[in-house]
Amino acid sequence: MLRTHTCGELRLSDKGNTVKLTGWIQKVRDKGGMIFIDLRDRYGLTQLVLNEQNGQQEVIAEARKLGREFVVQVEGTVLEREAKNSKIATGEIEIDLSSITILNPSKTPPILIEDNANEGEDLRMKYRYLDLRKNNVRAGLELRHRLMRETRNFLDKENFLEVETPVLIKSTPEGARDFVVPSRMNPGEFYALPQSPQTFKQLLMVSGFDRYFQIVKCFRDEDLRADRQPEFTQIDCEMSFVEREDILSLFEKLVKHIFQSEKGISLPDFPRMTYADAMEYYGSDKPDTRFDMKFVTLTPLTKGKDFAIFEQAELVVAINAKGCANYSRKQLDKLTDFVKKPQVGAKGLVYVKCNEDGSYKSSVDKFYSQEDLKAWAEAANAEAGDLLLVLSGKDSTTRKQMNELRLEMGSQLGLRDKNTFSCLWVVDFPLLEWDEESKRFHAMHHPFTSSIQEDVHLLDSKPEDVRANAYDMVINGVELGGGSIRIHDKDIQAKMFDALGFSEEEAKAQFGFLMDAFEYGAPPHAGIAFGFDRLCSLLGGSDSIRDYIAFPKNNAGRDVMIDSPAPIAKEQLDELGLKAQ
Ligand code: AMO
Repeated sequence: MLRTHTCGELRLSDKGNTVKLTGWIQKVRDKGGMIFIDLRDRYGLTQLVLNEQNGQQEVIAEARKLGREFVVQVEGTVLEREAKNSKIATGEIEIDLSSITILNPSKTPPILIEDNANEGEDLRMKYRYLDLRKNNVRAGLELRHRLMRETRNFLDKENFLEVETPVLIKSTPEGARDFVVPSRMNPGEFYALPQSPQTFKQLLMVSGFDRYFQIVKCFRDEDLRADRQPEFTQIDCEMSFVEREDILSLFEKLVKHIFQSEKGISLPDFPRMTYADAMEYYGSDKPDTRFDMKFVTLTPLTKGKDFAIFEQAELVVAINAKGCANYSRKQLDKLTDFVKKPQVGAKGLVYVKCNEDGSYKSSVDKFYSQEDLKAWAEAANAEAGDLLLVLSGKDSTTRKQMNELRLEMGSQLGLRDKNTFSCLWVVDFPLLEWDEESKRFHAMHHPFTSSIQEDVHLLDSKPEDVRANAYDMVINGVELGGGSIRIHDKDIQAKMFDALGFSEEEAKAQFGFLMDAFEYGAPPHAGIAFGFDRLCSLLGGSDSIRDYIAFPKNNAGRDVMIDSPAPIAKEQLDELGLKAQ
């Protein structure tokens, strides 16, 4: 080794020892007679000192050549510091240098290697290898490593076997677009990168593997957001001979284990909420339940009073912002602007202030009496000092808009603390979703999901009412994972493809292998997959999953460091039988 210790290791107990350290120059402070150098590596920071009075002229000359991020090897003696620094682990000591060897100089780095240095995202990503030298950035990857280790340990103890499935496959229908790879050996034909290993894990159940998991890269060509990357990682799991309860309790245990080991937090049991209730009370299938502020339907209470907007509305819905009756005109205007943003899309916002003297002041006083407003307030459990915020319109769009407003109010009122965790299972999703564009049903989860037994008979007559035996784990308004009880019967699977508008030939061409496998003793099975990057960001506290990915893509799906995607040479295109654009 070029070193005897790391830069985070030495303590007062090492006083007097001769040591060798290696690392990067963080900072040089030349005070004339004395030079102080901060040496950094992955483990920490150690202060090095040189004193002209000690006659270290050669070493001092070498030190004066140093610049930021030079890689050096130094040798010296551990001294007790006069001015101790309690902020760093090595703050009680410093190294009196006897030699400096420059192992590699560095150009002046284009970004500052300091925690929370505020460079633009593009510059950070272009020089990601330098960005990764920052403590806080490295900490994100250290967290990722620990969570991966804890996940593997837990699942290994529970008898799960990690099996790798192929990356060059055929399209899996998870609802996003596929990334495709042309095949040179089969001109005109393409592999697809897996959106998830869904069909393979089901085949492994047919093979009798019984408990499978894989920490696996998945690829989806979809619009990107803070919690979405085109390539991301799942904790993908499947089990045989289980019922829904077995899956929910085992994977709740996994998540509890991870929170305990990483944060020392003992999570309470996760409540269950039906999809129908989630939409009714939160307007979202991933409600943030760190705070209450449930939706209250006011529709019947608002009719017959000549207020045209509410008269025509399918839904009039309110939330109660507790203690906000003192909101100023300006604050209310800002909220109105918020709901009118194109991303939210409401036409306007109605408010009712519940004044301390028991009276009400609303933006619709012209149409509604104090009695009317009192009835609204009572429906919403609003007391003096509270503020009702009301939206109206078409049921489904109004609920979505109110969800945005509720989250905004939660943030404004400080009710979405990053260190509070509220977990739940959302269950009983609809099996099918009507798609206006293609004028046919789509599987809400995926086509291999079974329906709830008592709803099966509705598949032909009222397919939209059939509930799926599917579940999502939601934490703080983030969909962390989702899965379902699978179909394991060929005829039911065929019926499902039929409901999704596949002809028999299409189903056979795309999923014949799975249907065939179901004829050779497929066990009842079920599974789930967690978004591993999202798990990291929940525990790490940053909203962007990029902070937990070593080399992430930007919002346009580009890796600005390696400059990808990029055109390929004509010869390569010819070889693949492809034409340049
Ligand atoms: P699903 O499509 O719900 O289910 O995905 C499972 C979890 O993966 C995470 N996730 C993502 N994370 C980051 N970037 C993305 N683009 C992205 N897309 C999804 C989410 C999500 O909950 N095969 C099924 C699982 C099963 O049925 O077992 C599946 O993939 O956290």
